[in-house]
Amino acid sequence: MVETLIAGNWKMNTDLDEAVDLVGELKNINIKEGRQVLICPPFISLGKINELLKDSSIKLGAQNFNPNQSGAYTGEVSGPMLKSVGVSYVILGHSERRQIFGESDQIVNEKLKSALDQGLKPILCVGESEDQRDESIHFDVVKEQITKALEGVSDKDFEDVVIAYEPIWAIGTGKTASAQDAEEMCKEIRDTTRDFYGEDLARNVQILYGGSVKADTISELMEQENINGALVGGASLDGKEFEQIINYE
Ligand code: PGA
Repeated sequence: MVETLIAGNWKMNTDLDEAVDLVGELKNINIKEGRQVLICPPFISLGKINELLKDSSIKLGAQNFNPNQSGAYTGEVSGPMLKSVGVSYVILGHSERRQIFGESDQIVNEKLKSALDQGLKPILCVGESEDQRDESIHFDVVKEQITKALEGVSDKDFEDVVIAYEPIWAIGTGKTASAQDAEEMCKEIRDTTRDFYGEDLARNVQILYGGSVKADTISELMEQENINGALVGGASLDGKEFEQIINYE
């Protein structure tokens, strides 16, 4: 059975004090068995949070990274730096990075391969815009994002990839995709990975849904066959609500 992963993407929120307070709340959660929990705070808080999570099962992720190991890349953060503060996951291809920072499928592919080479688990985000859904090209768009992002990724490396379906129109808008729409796309994603990697690996890849996930929408999403967890933005900044999402019934 594929394990459930509930990941919090804090985006550009929380200063160090706020981050410490939020982690203090999360550390007290009695996490139900079989649930993996991941938080992805801003870079500046990672070191401190890593210390605070020492005795916790909560894992630490980054929201982005530079695929180069070190060097003259002013303002960037590398894989070795992230690993030195306990980071094991990195979110890649988030629509905010694609749209605001111009990250192409090629850059996402380069970062994904570099993350895997360095032993970081990528959470590959894919998803269509509202216009693309209205034009009924959403399956093609997502398939192309997956195909390009996974180009050159071996079977062995694919085992460490997590995929998050995040329809752009659902992110930060309060409009969660219906559980049926989310399931339909997550199934399509699994089918696509089956074409590339075969039945066993496709069955085991963790596919998350993201986009306005809240305490009152998580359960129905998690009932779907091809949804193995959630990537939660806004609601992960509220300790109480994130707890309800983690421990959904
Ligand atoms: P949201 O963000 O839950 O605030 O919609 C999700 C995401 O962008 O990862």
